[in-house]
Amino acid sequence: RAPHSLPSLYALRERQEKIAMLTCYDASMATLMDEAGVDILLIGDSLGMVLQGHSSTLPVTIEDVAYHTACVARGNKTAWVLADMPWGSYHESPAQAYANAAKLMAAGAHMVKIEGGAWVAPTIEFLTQRGVPVCAHIGLTPQYVHLLGGYRLQGKNEGDAQRLQAEALTLQQAGANMLLFELIPAPLAASITAQLHIPTIGIGAGPDCSGQVLVIQDILGIFPGKKARFVKNYLAGRDSIQAAVRAYVDEVKSGVYPAPEHSFGVVSKG
Ligand code: KIV
Ligand code: NA
Repeated sequence: RAPHSLPSLYALRERQEKIAMLTCYDASMATLMDEAGVDILLIGDSLGMVLQGHSSTLPVTIEDVAYHTACVARGNKTAWVLADMPWGSYHESPAQAYANAAKLMAAGAHMVKIEGGAWVAPTIEFLTQRGVPVCAHIGLTPQYVHLLGGYRLQGKNEGDAQRLQAEALTLQQAGANMLLFELIPAPLAASITAQLHIPTIGIGAGPDCSGQVLVIQDILGIFPGKKARFVKNYLAGRDSIQAAVRAYVDEVKSGVYPAPEHSFGVVSKG
């Protein structure tokens, strides 16, 4: 396949082909995922938990993400490379965000991801005007775990749902090129996706997003600890990581994943 670009990702949304994203932190997995048809490789700050063993994403630094982004970029040929802006790397000012985003772009990122609501709109505007594509991340934003009181479903009541809906529009207006929702009710993700013209990616957000993302350690069943409801083990019953990643891509593309049991607020069919 030809290397992905923003237009090729938008074309997937246009023809209603689901976008398959996975987290990726090293060159070997980047090559494997690229060859398996993963559209977007996310160097997530989840690396703080799954690689570094921390109990949250807060200790991750811009140097950590830049290092793993460079590793992924060397192994990748055609996937879109998305790198997380970690805790403390964009919160002070748009200028601070630009200086740190520039490190990730120099390491090989094609786009950066920023957690936060309407307050990040000026930062998104600043970055996109200066040539840094941005994916906004709303709903459960793990960097804000201490304010949110845990890793729990967001947008459950009418007021919160309306706030998320308004935030999504504000962030698109500010120039966000993609929007990721984590842990929000499926009907809310569907309604926001229908309102926007940019692609949306969900994790624990139901089937009606433009694409899906999961953490690679979760789909291989190798992350110790409590398994989130939206996680599915793709290595179970298969004999290679290649086969597991291919099965994930197939199930995202065909809409088999996520099923109602992986989502919240879905009336189960049948
Ligand atoms: O850091 C990460 O892996 C993420 C995804 C779970 C969306 O942000
Ligand atoms: Na993240």
